[in-house]
Amino acid sequence: MDVTTDNTVPVATIDGISQYEGKRVCIKGWLYNIRIGGSILFLQVRDGSGIIQAVLVKKEIGEEVFQMAKKLTQESSIIVTGSVRADSRAPGGFELTIDGLELVGESPDYPITPKEHGIDFLMENRHLWLRSSRQHAILRIRAEIIKACRDYFNDRGYILIDSPILTPSACEGTTTLFATDYFGQKAYLTQSGQLYVEAAAMAFGKVYCFGPTFRAEKSRTRRHLMEFWMIEPEVAYCDWKTNMEIQEDFLEYVVGTVLKNRWKEIEQLERNTKYLENVKKPFPRLHYDDAVKILQSKGQKIEWGDDFGAEHETMLTEEFDKPFFVHHFPHVSKAFYMKRDPDRPECALCSDLLAPEGYGEIIGGGQREDNYDKLLEGVKKHNLDEEAYKWYLDLRKYGSVPHAGFGLGIERTVSWICGLHHVREAIPFPRTLNRMYP
Ligand code: 4AD
Ligand code: MG
Repeated sequence: MDVTTDNTVPVATIDGISQYEGKRVCIKGWLYNIRIGGSILFLQVRDGSGIIQAVLVKKEIGEEVFQMAKKLTQESSIIVTGSVRADSRAPGGFELTIDGLELVGESPDYPITPKEHGIDFLMENRHLWLRSSRQHAILRIRAEIIKACRDYFNDRGYILIDSPILTPSACEGTTTLFATDYFGQKAYLTQSGQLYVEAAAMAFGKVYCFGPTFRAEKSRTRRHLMEFWMIEPEVAYCDWKTNMEIQEDFLEYVVGTVLKNRWKEIEQLERNTKYLENVKKPFPRLHYDDAVKILQSKGQKIEWGDDFGAEHETMLTEEFDKPFFVHHFPHVSKAFYMKRDPDRPECALCSDLLAPEGYGEIIGGGQREDNYDKLLEGVKKHNLDEEAYKWYLDLRKYGSVPHAGFGLGIERTVSWICGLHHVREAIPFPRTLNRMYP
C-alpha cells in the first residue's frame, strides 16, 4: 500500500491539535463513525491519540470525493487534510474542515459496531475491540500505572533485576505450575520472580523485578488470569513492618499519579473516585485473628487456619474505605519461604494488601525465612525437590540477613483503579481458563 501525502502539510496528532488552530494539517487515522446530513458529512476520525470530528462539504470537495466518502465504512483507514477550527461544542474543542481525503485501506463488515455486544463476542474480537474508546481509556491507565510503578522504584535507588521466565522450581506452590520441556528436563513458567530478587537483594540491597508471571489457576473468578504482570521489590535488612510502610507509600504514589495524569480517562470510565482519593497512608492493619472474627460475626463458616476465599476478602473490604493490610496469616496456609513470627510460630510474618469496594487482594508479601535450617525444613515440608532449591538455600549460608518484599499484581490494580467488573479487561490480551485466542 502506497501512502501518499502532500508534504507541505504537517501531520498532526489529535491530542496535539490545539497548536494548529487556524492552520492546515493532515491526520492519519481510521474512521470511527460517520453521520450523513444531506450534502455534509460528519466524520469521526481517530488516530490512536484521540478522536476529532471532521466536516466534509460536498460543494467544497467535489462530487467524486464526496461520493467516495459517503460510502466509507467504520474503521476504514483514511488520511484527511483540512484546516483546524476551534469549536467549543466539539468534544476536544476543535474540528477539522476537510479539503482532502484519501482512502488507505477498506474495512468492509467491521464486526464491532456501536451497538451492544456480548462479552464472548468481544473477547473473540479482542484484537479489534482494542480500538474502542473504553478499552483505550483502560489501557492508557494501565500504561500510566506501570510507568508510575517503575518510576517509584527507579527514583528511590532500587535496581531493576530481570528474573527468568523459565525456571526449574516453584515459588508459589506446585499446583499452579505450567510445565514445559527444556531439552529433556522439566521447566516451569515462572509464578513469581521473588526467589531471584532475593538473591539480587543480597547483591544490591534494594531491587525489583517486573514481568509476566504464570499460574495454572483452575479458578474461573473475576480476579484470576493464567498470565499476569507483577512488580516485585525486595529489600535487604528489612522486616515485615517496614515492608508494609513501603507498600502504602508506593500505592499512594501510584494512585495519586494516575488521578493526576489520567483524570480524563478515569472520568470517561465514569469511575467514582471517592475511595481512590482516600488512598493516603497510613492504611489500616488488621491481624488475621481479628479478620477471622469479623468474618465469623458476619455468619461465615471459617476457622482459624483457613485461607481466605474471594468472597471472604470482599466481605472484609466492606469494613474499610481505603486499602488495608491483613497480616499474620497462619503459616500452614502460606508458601514455603515465609518466616514465622518468633512470638507466634503458628503465624507467618506476612501481609496481604486488600483494595476496597470489593476488590480484595492486590499485593502479597512479607518477611522471608532467613535461617538455613528452618528454610530447608520448609522445602521438605512442602515436598519440594531440594536439589532445585540449593542455590536459594545458599543465600542463607553466605551472609544471610533479614529481608522482605512484596508483589503487586498489575491487572488487579488496573481493575480496581478503573472500577472494572472483571480482570480480563485490564490486560490487552487476557489468558483465562477458557480462552487463549487471540
Ligand atoms: O500473593 P502472590 O501469590 O505472591 C507472590 O507471588 C509473592 N511471591 C510476591 C512477593 O512477595 N514477591 O501474588 C502477588 C499478587 C497478588 O496479590 C495479586 O495481585 C496477583 O499477584 N495475582 C494474580 N493476578 C491475576 N491473576 C492471578 N491468577 C493472580 N495470582 C496472583
Ligand atoms: Mg497472595
